[in-house]
Amino acid sequence: MTKIDVLLGLQWGDEGKGKIVDVLTPDYDVVARFQGGPNAGHTLEFNGTKHVLHIIPSGIFHREKINLIGNGVLIEPRIFRQEIEALTEKGVDATQNLFISKKAHLILPSHRMMDAANEQAKGNAKIGSTLKGIGPAYTDKIARNGLRVGDTLAADFRERYDALKRLHLQQAKALGFDVNAFRVDGMTLDEYERVWMESIETLRRFRYVNSEYFVNQCLRDNKKVLAEGAQAMMLDIDFGTYPFVTSSNTITAGVCTGLGVAPSTIGRVMGITKAYCTRVGAGPFPTQLDDETGRMLCEQGHEYGATTGRPRRCGWIDLPALRYACMINGVTDLFVTKPDVMNNFETVCMCTGYEIDGQLTDEIPYEYNTADIRPQFTPYKGWMCSLEGTASYNALPKELLDYLKAIEQQTGVNIRAVSISPDRKDVLFKQ
Ligand code: GDP
Ligand code: IMO
Ligand code: MG
Repeated sequence: MTKIDVLLGLQWGDEGKGKIVDVLTPDYDVVARFQGGPNAGHTLEFNGTKHVLHIIPSGIFHREKINLIGNGVLIEPRIFRQEIEALTEKGVDATQNLFISKKAHLILPSHRMMDAANEQAKGNAKIGSTLKGIGPAYTDKIARNGLRVGDTLAADFRERYDALKRLHLQQAKALGFDVNAFRVDGMTLDEYERVWMESIETLRRFRYVNSEYFVNQCLRDNKKVLAEGAQAMMLDIDFGTYPFVTSSNTITAGVCTGLGVAPSTIGRVMGITKAYCTRVGAGPFPTQLDDETGRMLCEQGHEYGATTGRPRRCGWIDLPALRYACMINGVTDLFVTKPDVMNNFETVCMCTGYEIDGQLTDEIPYEYNTADIRPQFTPYKGWMCSLEGTASYNALPKELLDYLKAIEQQTGVNIRAVSISPDRKDVLFKQ
C-alpha cells in the first residue's frame, strides 16, 4: 500500500501550485483535487503556451495520468464546460482520463447570486470573494441542502434544483438584493440557468465514480497519488484569517475529508511558498508593502489574479505565518517559487517575527485581523542578476542560496526545489 502525497499552498494562494503539480505529475499515477472549486486559478506554462485551470486538476496535460475531482471539490458546470472546451481546443481530450466524484457538490447559478448578495450585505466588511458561489455552495453542503454530481442522474434532479433555487431567491430577497439586476457574464439568472443546464450534459459525459473507493484501491494497488490543494493555508476556514478566508479546509486534514482517505495514508506533504508574499481580496497581511517595492513585486511578478484579474497585494515573505503553515500541515518538503521576480532587488527582506503591543512573538494571534502587528524584518543582500538558464540548484547565486538557507533554518523544513520562471522546465531540484 502506498501513501498519498499532498501538495498545497502555505500563504494566501497563488504560490504556483498548478505549475509544481504539472512538474511532479510524471512521478505519479493519479492527481486528485480535494477541495475548493472555480475560485482557484492554477497556471501552467510549457512550449510557450499558458494554461489556466480552475476545477480540473493540474495533471491533465499528462494524458496517461488519471485526474480526479474529489468529493470535497465544488463543480460549477458551466465553468467546467468552458475548461473542457479550452482543453479540447488545445487537443486535450479529458474524457479519457478525468474522473469525477459523485459526491462532489454543484454550484448553482443561484449560489453565485447569493455570493454577490452576501458580499453586498457585508458592505465594507466584504471578503473580496471571487464570486464563483463558493461560500453559498459549501453553506448548503453543511446545511444538508446541497445538490451533488451524482444527483444529476436522478429523475427528480430538476425539482430539487428548483426547490434550492427558490430558497436562494427568498434569501436574496431577505438581504434586500436586487435579483433582476443580477448578471453573471452579462446574463440574467434565468439566461445563465439555461447555459448551466446545457453544461450538465457536458458533465454527464465524464466518468462519475465513488471516488473514495477509487482512491483507496489505487493506494492498495501501489499506485502513486498526488493530492492537489487549492487556495492555501492562510485561507483555511478554521486556521486562516477568519472571516477573510475561503469556505473549505485547505490544509492537509482536508485531504482526508476531501478524498476519503485515512490520516495514516498521508505521505509527503509538499508546501509551496513564494520567495515573497501576495494576497488577493480583503483581510490582514502584516508584511504588505504599500510602496514602490510592493509595486515592483506586483509588476515584475505579474501579480494579477488568474481567476478574477484583480491586482494582488504584495509584500515580503512572512516566516511566522510560514512556520504556522508548516505546523498545521506537517510539511515535509518546501518548494519556493518566483525568486526571479526579485532579481534586481538590492535588498530582500524576511519577516522573522511580529511585535504586538511592544511584545515580540512569532505566534499568529487570535486577534490577527485587529491587532497592530509590526513585522520585524531581517534584510538579506539581493543577488542582482538574472536567474535565467541556471542549470542546477547549487548553481544559484550565493546570495539567493543564503536566503533559501535562512528559510530552511526558520521553518525547520528542507527545500526540495526552487522554481525560477513560469515555465515547466525551470524547476531546480536540490540534489
Ligand atoms: P496557483 O494558484 O498556486 O497555481 O498559482 P497561480 O497560477 O494563480 O499564480 C502563480 C503565477 O506565477 C502564475 O502566473 C505562474 O505562471 C507564475 N509562476 C509560477 N512559478 C513561477 C516562477 O518561479 N517565476 C515566475 N516569474 N513566475 C512563476
Ligand atoms: P488558488 O487556488 C488566491 C480568496 C479570495 C477572497 C477569499 C474568499 O488559485 O491559490 P472565495 O471565492 O473562496 O469565497 O473567496 O479567498 N481566494 C483566493 N486567493 N488564490 C486562490 O486560489 C483563491 N481562492 C479564493 O480572493 O479573498
Ligand atoms: Mg491561483
